[in-house]
Amino acid sequence: MKLSSRRRGRLGGSEQWVVTQQRPRHVDSAGVDPCPDPGPLPAQARLLELGDLPLARGTPRRHLRKQRPKRASQSAEPPRASVINHIRPSRAAQQLTESVMVDFTGKTVLITGASGALGTTLSVQFAQAGANVVAASRSRYHEVAEKAGGNSVGVRLDVTSETEWTDAIARTEERFGPLDILINNAAYLRIGTTESIPLDEFRRVIDTNLTGALLGIRAAAPSMRKAGGGAIVNVNSIAGLTAAPELVAYSSSKWALRGLMRAAAKGLARDNIRVNSVHPGIIETPLAYDPDGKPIVPVDNLAVPRNAAPEEIADFILFAASDQARFATGSEILADGGYLLGAIA
Ligand SMILES: NC(=O)c1ccc[n+]([C@@H]2O[C@H](COP(=O)([O-])OP(=O)(O)OC[C@H]3O[C@@H](n4cnc5c(N)ncnc54)[C@H](OP(=O)(O)O)[C@@H]3O)[C@@H](O)[C@H]2O)c1
Repeated sequence: MKLSSRRRGRLGGSEQWVVTQQRPRHVDSAGVDPCPDPGPLPAQARLLELGDLPLARGTPRRHLRKQRPKRASQSAEPPRASVINHIRPSRAAQQLTESVMVDFTGKTVLITGASGALGTTLSVQFAQAGANVVAASRSRYHEVAEKAGGNSVGVRLDVTSETEWTDAIARTEERFGPLDILINNAAYLRIGTTESIPLDEFRRVIDTNLTGALLGIRAAAPSMRKAGGGAIVNVNSIAGLTAAPELVAYSSSKWALRGLMRAAAKGLARDNIRVNSVHPGIIETPLAYDPDGKPIVPVDNLAVPRNAAPEEIADFILFAASDQARFATGSEILADGGYLLGAIA
């Protein structure tokens, strides 16, 4: 264990986390590490202390947190659903205190649907983790790149257009060199049952959520081969693991996206390209509400009775894209707040 490069993070009391070039350690006041070092991680899997990074307001810091003593106002009894409804996820996320982020320095990531709620958060978080970010969408891409800061550029990309994919990859390579990471995040949702959904809308959902991801993988793979490998993360959904009658198009697209992910994971494995999916539960974004502003899925009875903050889901996606997930390919990572457990009461 290399201690010379260590930095200490204060967590209160006499205990602290020590972050080194290799891994974080928990030590007591005498400096004793109760967990012996299993050996160094590769440099690319190096963990950083979030305190070293310029964070956006509201970015959760939690993976390495130590439980703080509960305030008197935080009773052991779980809050009632009516109270929970008023807890905004971003506030809940702000209460979380310490975290570790993966390091993407020198890596180039292209994020589709960057203008959306999750896409913007992903752009910001990847940039904060040191990546060269290509924020791609049909609108507001320059704005998102500016917000992300660091080495970020905005690129116009309609994921359903093969030509626009070719242009986006060419611009990425021109600016940063070969692509390392692709996040297929863009999506379109239209509510409708098997009988009520207009056929052209069904096709648009499939075209965006499924064909768009196929075109992305097809355009990105040659660039990733030049880089010696890469990671692709498809942003899927609990709708790709369950079904609701009025989400027939969205659910169909997300179930099919799982097949695409697995086929691509097998097909690209020998090129050292990993392909995985992250399946969020309900995120606090416009997609979570119908046109009348009504939640598409009520969450009051779930184990975690609130929508996720985009930052909380972005953390899973960054992990799947990172070298820390290097043993995962063809995997479906669930981040659903217990949605698949069903109602708990
Ligand atoms: N929100 C949720 O509750 C939830 C839950 C589970 C999974 N997800 C998944 O999370 C991902 C992000 O969703 P979100 O909540 O951030 O949605 P969002 O705010 O609606 O963002 C979706 C983005 O996709 C882009 N898009 C739509 N059609 C496109 C096209 N043809 N080409 C390029 N971009 C297109 C839109 O950007 P432009 O119009 O600027 O192109 C939009 O900004 C999606 O894959 C979604 O399925 C969301």
